[in-house]
Amino acid sequence: MIKTKAAVIKEAGGPEKFIYEDVATPEVKEGWSLVKVKCFGINHSEIFTRKGLSPSVKFPRILGIECVGVINKTTDSDRLPVGQKVVSIMGEMGRAFDGSYAEYALLPNKQLYPIETDLDWATLAALPETYYTAFGSMLNLKIAKDDKVLVRAGTSGVGVAFVKLLKAKYPDIYVAGSSRSLKKEKQMLDVGYDEAIIDQDGELQTDKKFDKILELIGPKTIKNSFKHLIEGGIVCSTGQLGNQWYLDKFDPIIDIAANSYLTSFYSGNVNEEKINHMLDYVKKYDADAKPERVFDLKHVADAHRYLENSKSFGKVVVVED
Ligand SMILES: NC(=O)c1ccc[n+]([C@@H]2O[C@H](COP(=O)([O-])OP(=O)(O)OC[C@H]3O[C@@H](n4cnc5c(N)ncnc54)[C@H](OP(=O)(O)O)[C@@H]3O)[C@@H](O)[C@H]2O)c1
Repeated sequence: MIKTKAAVIKEAGGPEKFIYEDVATPEVKEGWSLVKVKCFGINHSEIFTRKGLSPSVKFPRILGIECVGVINKTTDSDRLPVGQKVVSIMGEMGRAFDGSYAEYALLPNKQLYPIETDLDWATLAALPETYYTAFGSMLNLKIAKDDKVLVRAGTSGVGVAFVKLLKAKYPDIYVAGSSRSLKKEKQMLDVGYDEAIIDQDGELQTDKKFDKILELIGPKTIKNSFKHLIEGGIVCSTGQLGNQWYLDKFDPIIDIAANSYLTSFYSGNVNEEKINHMLDYVKKYDADAKPERVFDLKHVADAHRYLENSKSFGKVVVVED
């Protein structure tokens, strides 16, 4: 039997539950192709799943909701020839079926997106989920160059990707980022934020108001975000870092204040064209997409530990070559 290295979760728990071992390399089946995984990003949602907080996910499971790699065995040689560079995200990978924390992943053709790029693998790996989410949120916020923008949870992977994408196109745009402490202020200023604002127990410690707010803490802090929105502004609620999924006692007439707008972005809304639109943007504006930290597959548990640690910052990826 041909083997592939993988980091497998057999039961829910902490990062120590990752077992790095040889598993059988999956056989291709109709409508699915085998990808040699080159690199993948680590996502907050995978931490939830590892902890057993994704009820639909059954263990043992190889986690990983995204990857970049090359087609190794194909069932669609026209669109996905062997050797083709591809991106894959979402569509239940790493949840209903095994995902990217492995040397090889068997993935449905319909969620394999061919890409043409000369970016290095580690940079490319930061893009599919995190940059795609930041990019989609940016579009939904309908950013104009004179907007004053706030990223709530500015130190998160999506937050850092957002500010880098925005500053690449509009170097002079004002972007503030919030964090629960000022410990990461220097890193925040270094990646492009103009100011770090403390977010204490769900309340922004400032009187400032913004035209656009990327809300990554989510339902827990949306009401407070609207208090910091200029009339006619937009809040895009894309994350749930506050561990609250639903709005509680939210009166849309009162709480979506001052003729403003509430929108969201979901990365499951993805196709080849949308992924390549984002890659074109990164190339056109020479956006910095370098990950903050790079691990290898054997140390995927350390990558999770780092992301869960209060010192974590920006995008974390795992390189396999
Ligand atoms: N809508 C979509 O399709 C989509 C796609 C991708 C990601 N997301 C969501 O976007 C969010 C960001 O994802 P990510 O992978 O970029 O996250 P991440 O990098 O893991 O975020 C880590 C940061 O979150 C902050 N944080 C952690 N726990 C928090 C809490 N209880 N309250 C407030 N802040 C907290 C910390 O900032 P400080 O310590 O500096 O405060 C930490 O630096 C997540 O909720 C994720 O599920 C959504």
